[in-house]
Amino acid sequence: MDIRDKIPPSGSPAGIPNDLSAFWMPFTNNRAYKASPRLLVSAEGMHYRSHDGRSILDGTAGLWCTNAGHCRAPIVEAIQRQAATMDFAPTFQMGHPLAFELASKLTAMAPEGFTQAFFTNSGSESVDTALKIALAYHRARGEGHRTRFIGRERGYHGVGFGGISVGGIVANRKVFGPLLAGVDHLPHTYSREHQAYSRGQPDWGAHLADELERIVALHDASTIAAVIVEPVAGSTGVLIPPKGYLERLRAICDRHGLLLIFDEVITGFGRLGTAFATDYFGVKPDMITLAKGLTNAAVPMGAVLTRQGLYDTLLEAAPPGTIELFHGYTYSAHALACAAGIATLDLYRDEGLFERAAALAPDWEEAVHGLKGTRHVIDLRNLGLIAGIELEPRPGKPGSRAYDAFVKCYERGVLIRVTGDIIALSPPLIIEPEHVDTIMTTIREVLETLD
Ligand SMILES: Cc1ncc(COP(=O)(O)O)c(C=O)c1O
Repeated sequence: MDIRDKIPPSGSPAGIPNDLSAFWMPFTNNRAYKASPRLLVSAEGMHYRSHDGRSILDGTAGLWCTNAGHCRAPIVEAIQRQAATMDFAPTFQMGHPLAFELASKLTAMAPEGFTQAFFTNSGSESVDTALKIALAYHRARGEGHRTRFIGRERGYHGVGFGGISVGGIVANRKVFGPLLAGVDHLPHTYSREHQAYSRGQPDWGAHLADELERIVALHDASTIAAVIVEPVAGSTGVLIPPKGYLERLRAICDRHGLLLIFDEVITGFGRLGTAFATDYFGVKPDMITLAKGLTNAAVPMGAVLTRQGLYDTLLEAAPPGTIELFHGYTYSAHALACAAGIATLDLYRDEGLFERAAALAPDWEEAVHGLKGTRHVIDLRNLGLIAGIELEPRPGKPGSRAYDAFVKCYERGVLIRVTGDIIALSPPLIIEPEHVDTIMTTIREVLETLD
């Protein structure tokens, strides 16, 4: 058969596909979705447009990623220009100017001392890259026996085998076998009993970092390469670090020579009102993993920022004439992604979007905590432009109440995100006060209607 007979013509005139079965949707209840689909067909600023012509207010910046709002002209134009100039250039033993320019911009905006950027295509790849750099670094220093990683319960680090091994979300791990060997986990930092309705960082919980001492004593520091945590855990339902917790982790890592990796895939690029959570908390890790907001999600891209010394150590250890790190992706520093990244970082700077997020954060906090007393709400938490709204689960049906809230909010024109029975909000940083009102009012009204 001629291939032209096998590939059907694209889309219907309205852009609505006739067949939904072939696309195996990620992290989706495929059966429920395909019985009642929700298609987004265009986007601009704070809004999507749905296939049935409705305007949908984006309360989640897509998936925590379109921090500057949708389809921003400078980013769109940069991608268009680059696509017409040079679509792809290899970065293995070759290069193109935008890759170097973006790396320089990114390290310049990073906290002092982060001197290199390794490019990937996603948060998951950034995490696996950071774990591999940690192993290679210790080996280059003659400590190749440091092979263990310490993650955290309820942590989310993407879906690669490295990421699910150090991650702590049971559903993401349980069907995928034994995972990476030699991984241990810190306890998560959430306690409703001690932290419910905290505004910003909870007062209770810094002592949970001391569990790292116990884990180090169990395995011996000489076997541990790195500790990886999200400064604010997002995908697991918005867990804000207790005051002093990250500082304590850093001190323990220093005491035992462990690298500390902050997974900033969601906290990077202004989510807390600073470029990175590292700036917000004033705690410096050794590596920062990034993705999402790096290109405003217009082209997939991730990065690992490494602290001065890691790169130099690997370069010095490798015999001359050899590749220093046997790692990279065909699309590392893809030309379109670099063009999007450069335009995005310029846009964040020119519009002062991180500062804007910081200025909006107090009103955001008020609005979020204004939901106290709403039916089914059992906790509210916030930091920067992030909110977690925890609902009482329906007996025997965990997650079903929040899922119904998600569907009903969408029907009323607001996109929220749910994980378990927690609503997670992370709007674009261009949000206006009236959008905040619409989001909170819609959530309140929807929750009041739900059983
Ligand atoms: C903290 C964190 N790490 C890693 C990832 C994975 O990123 P990606 O889906 O781009 O692989 C995510 C995605 O939400 C994340 O929140």
